[in-house]
Amino acid sequence: MPSSTQPDIGEMSSDASSRFLRNTWYVAAWSQDVAAGSIFSRRILGERVVFFRAATGTVAALADYCPHRFAPLHLGALLPNGRLQCGYHGLEFDAAGACVHNPHGNGVIPPAAHVPAYPVVERHGIVWIWMGKRTADPALIPDFSILEDAGEKLGRHDHIIFDANIDFVTTNLLDLSHVSFLHEGILGNAETIAADIGVRQEGTTLFVTREQSNVRIPPLYRLTYKPDAEVGDLWRVMRWDAPGCMILDSGTTAPGASRDDGSGYYGIHLLTPETATTTHYHFSSVRRHLSAIESQDEAIKAEIARLRRIAFEGQDAPMMAAQQETVRELEAQGRMLRPALLSVDAGPQRYRRIMDTLLAADS
Ligand code: FES
Ligand SMILES: [Fe+2]
Repeated sequence: MPSSTQPDIGEMSSDASSRFLRNTWYVAAWSQDVAAGSIFSRRILGERVVFFRAATGTVAALADYCPHRFAPLHLGALLPNGRLQCGYHGLEFDAAGACVHNPHGNGVIPPAAHVPAYPVVERHGIVWIWMGKRTADPALIPDFSILEDAGEKLGRHDHIIFDANIDFVTTNLLDLSHVSFLHEGILGNAETIAADIGVRQEGTTLFVTREQSNVRIPPLYRLTYKPDAEVGDLWRVMRWDAPGCMILDSGTTAPGASRDDGSGYYGIHLLTPETATTTHYHFSSVRRHLSAIESQDEAIKAEIARLRRIAFEGQDAPMMAAQQETVRELEAQGRMLRPALLSVDAGPQRYRRIMDTLLAADS
């Protein structure tokens, strides 16, 4: 695809709150972050949600406000019987959001004393939440079973918040040409700029590929392949499912060799809007192979996690926050922003089209 200025990606906006998909599964948290006996609070699509494990061990998600005087429920207590007790005047709620105990007066529970509850499913070590009004179908959760089957190849589960709308972050991940510049010396270098780019769609699932032959191998890929390898063929295949669920199959092999002879890792990238201008980023990794020397694996795992955190938190995050602020300022000046599109935008363009179709059908 040649460089061009096609305008069909749509204008960019620093505030896309009206464009959140609602009838879909969002990643609320890693399962490990919703510990038994504790209360976990998080803002999702701009709404404060309180999570806790019911007596059965299943995760419950309620709107984080009490229907009496609207105190946040996450300031309350999780009782031994699995009920959530408001910290202000002591109303108690079950996992479905029903008030089941009023400690005052004759104990009668007013009809309005209930809290909205959200459907939740725990799968692949992830807490998924459904924020829409349609029936929540667990079959629609994208396949991240790779996380369950990984064993020792599983990396560290991590989470940061980007000061950027989910569209900025998704576009960042579907156009990995930025690694040669923003992540130079970690994930890319001058030799990884030129690439063969491919876009493939299966239903509403998108695959974006970047391939390079005979290039200097970036440090993170040497870690997962051969520490002393200088040049190789690189591949990156990003799978995207709405709204922001991605797996990146990436690695390196000897020039001209098959991918089965090489190695690399699967990068897990899970995006959920916190607000219109901030995004939860859950990330992890799964290596293709362990090292020939077993004792090196813990050190390699720690180094992969460290480098990825530097790249995402120290490099991507400030760039996207600055990008969003620039767009906000330009919009405030009344400018209509249409990106000057490049060949590397083929993936983001297709993403935009799929999302627009899904949003049009969402109600
Ligand atoms: S605000 Fe919760 S019981 Fe009063
Ligand atoms: Fe990046």
